Amino acid sequence: MSTLLPSLSTWARNISPSPTLAVDAKAKAMQAAGEDVCSFAAGEPDFDTPEHIKDACIAALKAGKTKYSPTAGIEPLRQAIVDRYAAEYGLKAAPAQVVVSPGGKFNCYLGLLATCSPGDEVIVPAPYWVSYPEMVKLAGATPKFVLADDRTAFRLTPAMVEAAVTPKTKVLILNSPSNPTGAVYSRAELAEIVAVAVKHNLYILSDEMYEHLIYDGAKPTCVATLSKEAEARTIVVAGFSKTYAMTGWRIGTTLAPLAIAKAITELQSQMTSNVATFGQFGALAALKEKEKTAASVKTMLGAFDRRRKNLHAELNRIKGVSCVLAQGAFYLFPNISSFGLSDVEFCSRLLDSEKVAAVPGSAFGAEGYVRLSYATSDEIIAKGVGRLAKFCGSL
Ligand SMILES: Cc1ncc(COP(=O)(O)O)c(C=O)c1O
Repeated sequence: MSTLLPSLSTWARNISPSPTLAVDAKAKAMQAAGEDVCSFAAGEPDFDTPEHIKDACIAALKAGKTKYSPTAGIEPLRQAIVDRYAAEYGLKAAPAQVVVSPGGKFNCYLGLLATCSPGDEVIVPAPYWVSYPEMVKLAGATPKFVLADDRTAFRLTPAMVEAAVTPKTKVLILNSPSNPTGAVYSRAELAEIVAVAVKHNLYILSDEMYEHLIYDGAKPTCVATLSKEAEARTIVVAGFSKTYAMTGWRIGTTLAPLAIAKAITELQSQMTSNVATFGQFGALAALKEKEKTAASVKTMLGAFDRRRKNLHAELNRIKGVSCVLAQGAFYLFPNISSFGLSDVEFCSRLLDSEKVAAVPGSAFGAEGYVRLSYATSDEIIAKGVGRLAKFCGSL
C-alpha cells in the first residue's frame, strides 16, 4: 500500500545538487570500479593536513577538549584570526567580530541569512562558485547574475555591477581569487567595484577562501581594508580548507562588523552551535606555529604553481582550446566553444570516451567553458591533458 505524503518543502524542491560534487563522485565511482580515470574535478588540495596541525588536534582531544565551545569559536582562535588579519592586511578588528563556522560554505550562507530577506536581490558575478545561487535562494532572495567572460579575464567592471543594481539589491558577492576561474582582481579594480556598492548602500560578501593560493607575485586584497565604508559593510569569509589542506575538518571564518557578527553567531547558535572543539585547536596551531605552517604552504604553492603553468601551456597547444592564465586558486577555465558541442556534452563524452573528468562551465553560469582543477598529481595532469588533446582532435 502506498501512502500519498504531503509535498516536500519549497526549499527542498528548489535546491539543485552541487554539479561539481556530482562529477567528482562519478569519477571516484569509476576509479573504484577499476577504471583508469584522470580527474580534474577535485575542489580540494591533493595534500594531507600538515602534521603539526593534526598533532595539536589529537593533543586537544586527549586533553578532554570534547565539550561545546562558545558558538563563535574558542577565544584563542578568534584572537589568532584577528592577529593574522592585522599582520597580513593591517586590519584592526576585535575577536567579537570573528565567527568560526563549520566550513567556509556555512560562513557564506550565514552571511547571506544575516543580510537578506525575501524579495531582496543579490548580485552574483559569473562564472560563480556553484553554491552561491542556491544559498541566495535558501535565504529567500533572488540571485542576479552578471557574466564576465574570458575577454576580460573573467573580471567584472564597475559599470557591469552598476548596471545590475536595482532598488531591491541588498548584497554584492565578490570572490577573488575565484572558483571556478582562478581570476584575481587587483586592489584598484576592487576599490572601484566596492565604490559602486557603497554608492548604492549594499552589503558585500567577500569570499576570500583562496586568498593564499596566489601566483606570479599577485597580492590578495582583503576587501574590508579598501576604505572605512568598505569595512563597515563587508562580511569577509575565509577559512582553513584550501590553504592548509583541511577540507574535511570543516572550519571556516567570518570577519564582519560587530552587529553582523552578532547576528551570524545567533543564527549559528540555533543551527549547528560550534565547530568541533578539538578541531579548533588544530586550526589554532595552523595560525600559531607559523614557521611550520609557512613551510607546508610553500611546498603546496610551489606544486600548484608548477602544475598551473604546465597545464596552461598544454591546453593552449590544443587546437580549438584557449585558456587564460589565472593567477589564483587551483583551477583553469579553458574556452572550448569552438568545438560546436555544449560544454555538458563535451564533458560527458570526454569522461565516457577518454576517462577524463572535468566540470562543464554551465554549472558555474558560463557556457562554452570547462573547469579543470590542477589539485592533482603532475602525472595525472600530463596523462589527462594528453587524452584531452586526443579527444579534441577527434571532434
Ligand atoms: C569559492 C569558495 N568559497 C567557499 C568554499 C567553502 O570551503 P569550505 O566549506 O570547504 O571551507 C569553497 C569550497 O569549495 C569555494 O570554492
